[in-house]
Amino acid sequence: MSKDKSDREYDLVVVGATGYTGTITATHIAEHLPTNLKWAIAGRSGVKLEALAAELKKLSPDRLQPAIEIVDVEDKSKLSSLVKKARVCISVVSYHHVGAEVIEACIKNRTDYIDTAGSVLHIRNWIDKYHKAAELAGVVLIHSCGAFSAPQDLLTWASVRELAKKFSMKTKELVLSVVSIASDPSGGTIESMMERGAFGAEVLEKAQQPWYLSPTMGKQSSNSTNFFGMRHDSFLGGLSASAINAVQNRAVIHRTWGLLGGGKDYGPNFQYNEYKKASSTLAGVFQILNTRAIGLLLTIPPLKAIAMMFLPVPGEGPDLEKEKNYRVEMEAVAIADVDDDKAAPKVYSHFAYPGGPYHTTGAFLAQGAASLLYVRKLEGGAVGGLLTPAFLGADLIERIQGVGAELSTKIV
Ligand SMILES: NC(=O)c1ccc[n+]([C@@H]2O[C@H](COP(=O)([O-])OP(=O)(O)OC[C@H]3O[C@@H](n4cnc5c(N)ncnc54)[C@H](OP(=O)(O)O)[C@@H]3O)[C@@H](O)[C@H]2O)c1
Repeated sequence: MSKDKSDREYDLVVVGATGYTGTITATHIAEHLPTNLKWAIAGRSGVKLEALAAELKKLSPDRLQPAIEIVDVEDKSKLSSLVKKARVCISVVSYHHVGAEVIEACIKNRTDYIDTAGSVLHIRNWIDKYHKAAELAGVVLIHSCGAFSAPQDLLTWASVRELAKKFSMKTKELVLSVVSIASDPSGGTIESMMERGAFGAEVLEKAQQPWYLSPTMGKQSSNSTNFFGMRHDSFLGGLSASAINAVQNRAVIHRTWGLLGGGKDYGPNFQYNEYKKASSTLAGVFQILNTRAIGLLLTIPPLKAIAMMFLPVPGEGPDLEKEKNYRVEMEAVAIADVDDDKAAPKVYSHFAYPGGPYHTTGAFLAQGAASLLYVRKLEGGAVGGLLTPAFLGADLIERIQGVGAELSTKIV
C-alpha cells in the first residue's frame, strides 16, 4: 500500500504537535528518526508551532527541519488536504473531541495512522465505524501505542512467541506486574479520564468486559485475586489489583488475541491480567484504595470540580525534565497452557524505558510511525484495519530497543 505513496510531500505528519505529548513526540522524532525524514508538525496555533519548530532546530540543527502546517482538524477539507500529503500520520490531538476527524481523513486519503488513544469506549466506537472501511482501503490504524498499551501488548506478543518457539505450546495466561510508572498526569490525560463520567453506568459496566474490543470472545473468568484484591506469583512476588490502566490494556491485548485468530495464535484459553507490584498485603490494599479514590475523583461531578482546581489543564503536564528522569518498568510471566499448572513452562519478560510515561509514549509513537513508514510488516498477514501495537511485532521491538528501551524474554 505504501509503495504508491512515495511521491507524497511528507513521510510523516504529527497532528496535535503543540500539545504536551505531541511536543515530546516531535522532540523524539527530531532526535532519533533519520535526518532525511520529510516531516511536518501540525496544529491550530501558528505561534505555538513556530516556537516548537525553533526548539526542534536548536536540538537537531543538521537534519531536515519539519514544515509547519496550520490546521484546525474540525476543518475537514483543510485536514484532508494535509493528510493527503503524508504517508504516515501520528495523531496526538484530544481524541475524545476530535480524534475521529483525523481517522476519517486518513482512511479517505489512504494514509497510515498511529495514535495513543486509550479510552476503550472510543476505541469500540471507532472499531464499529472504521475497521472495515480501513481494511478495505488497506489503511493501518494503530491505537494505544503509548506507555499504555504498547509495552504490555508487545511483552505479551513476544512471550507467547517464546513459548511457541521453545515448547510448541500455547499460552494460558500472561500475568503482568507494573513495577514503576509515574502517576503525574498531563492535562490531556486528565481530560480523557474525566470524559468517562459522560457515559452512562451501563455503558461503563459493559466496557469493563475483558473482550470488549475483541472480534471474538475468549474464556477469561476471574483475575485470580484473593479477598484483599491481592495475588502472589512465585516470580513476580506480591501483586495488587490496582494497576490504573489494567482494564484498557487487557481490552487491547485481547483484541490482538482476537485479531490473530481468536486462539489460533495465542491459544484458545489465553487471558491477560495486570497488577501493580506490592511489597505487602497492606501496601497492596492501600494501592487499591488509592486507585479507587482517583477514579471517583475524576468521575463524580462535585469531586471533579474540586480536582480541576489543582490538576493540570489541557496543554500542561509534569515538568519535562522531571518527566524525562522517571522510569517506566514492568515485568511479566507467561504461563503455558497445560493441564498441570505447576509443571507449566513459563516465560519471564521485562520492559524498562529510561524516561517517564510521556517520554515512553513519544518513543513508541515515533518508532511505531517509523515502522509503518520503513517496513510496514504487519503480523498475521493483516493488510489494514484498526489494529494494535503488537501488529508491528519484532520491528517495533527492535526500534524501541534501539532508543534505550529494554524489552527481553527468557524461559524460567
Ligand atoms: N495511551 C497513553 O499511554 C497516552 C499517553 C499520553 C497521552 N495520551 C493521550 O493523548 C491525548 C493528548 O494528551 P496531551 O496531554 O498531549 O493533551 P494536550 O496537551 O491537551 O494536547 C492536545 C492537542 O490536541 C490539539 N487539538 C485539540 N483540538 C484541536 C483541533 N480542533 N484542531 C487541532 N488540534 C487540536 C491541541 O492543540 P492546541 O495546542 O492548539 O491546543 C493539542 O496540541 C490524551 O487523550 C491522552 O489521554 C495517551
